[in-house]
Amino acid sequence: MQSSDLPVILTGDRPTGPLHIGHFVGSLQSRVALQHTHKQYVLLADAQALTDNGDDPGKITRNVVEVALDYLAVGIDPAVTTICLQSALPALAELTVLYLNFVTVARLERNPTVKDEIKSRGFGRDIPAGFLCYPAAQAADITAFKATVVPVGEDQAPMIEQTNELVRRLNRQVGRMLLHEAQALIPSTGRLPGVDGKAKMSKSLGNALPLSASDAEIAAAVHRMYTDPDHLRVSDPGRVEGNVVFAYLDAFDTDAVAVADLKAHYRRGGLGDQVLKRRLTGILQNLIGPIRERRAELGRDRDAIVDVVRDGTARSREITELTKAEVFDGLGLFRL
Ligand code: TRP
Repeated sequence: MQSSDLPVILTGDRPTGPLHIGHFVGSLQSRVALQHTHKQYVLLADAQALTDNGDDPGKITRNVVEVALDYLAVGIDPAVTTICLQSALPALAELTVLYLNFVTVARLERNPTVKDEIKSRGFGRDIPAGFLCYPAAQAADITAFKATVVPVGEDQAPMIEQTNELVRRLNRQVGRMLLHEAQALIPSTGRLPGVDGKAKMSKSLGNALPLSASDAEIAAAVHRMYTDPDHLRVSDPGRVEGNVVFAYLDAFDTDAVAVADLKAHYRRGGLGDQVLKRRLTGILQNLIGPIRERRAELGRDRDAIVDVVRDGTARSREITELTKAEVFDGLGLFRL
């Protein structure tokens, strides 16, 4: 198959900090798996990251290379995947401004992810306008690349839904299928809880295990993990539901049969937390170790990382400019 016939993937991350193992199970893993069967673009979404970090743009800038390093360290291959920088693609901003005319403020306010984020960031009424509008910008990202597949964590499903609404609205306006709807590809494992058992792993909550964690940091995080508070003696029956260690074994232990046996044993009683934690520590150290080492090695030549992003951005500029022209033409905007 010609590379131009492959279905297109667009996905991305806000570079607000280095990525963690929640990102690994949520999206990085599938990106590595899909990059040979799809034409894949991965966006370093620095402009979107600014929508709630206007007071600290330096943080975003510093983390662009960190996130690019994470990508390469987990095995995203720049020979087949195009890594690009959002703020360096003007067509994305131009499409965003245009799309804002086809979505209402009420609809943006109803977006469940935006709603959650407004609450968790404590914006109250003082919501940065760019933040409220970022679903339209994300629709611009996805459509500019003509992506039909978007591998993301489950919290991003409402973004894809809103993108598809915009696509239908624009197609209706233009009177033909100018843009195509996209499908969210959400991992079946569900969201990985934080090491403290909170529903979400996040750097800002301080419960994340970064892809650069040392063996000692991994061991310490697993040691502190919450299991079953009523499982006091090894002989006591234990609870698997809500047990963070089992949530992690489900996500990372490739031996599903062994995990099922461990769960049965734990429920019966006679299986201690330490045995489980030792198993999980080993699994995470084996997973993160090579990523950490590759990350450190690649990090020695940061200029080379910048070059990868620059090349990918140049290639992305062509395709996004083309789509922009098609949308502007489709709407019949005056062409000079
Ligand atoms: N909103 C995504 C996140 O917070 C990042 C992102 C920006 C993205 N543009 C995208 C994801 C386009 C998928 C497609 O993680």
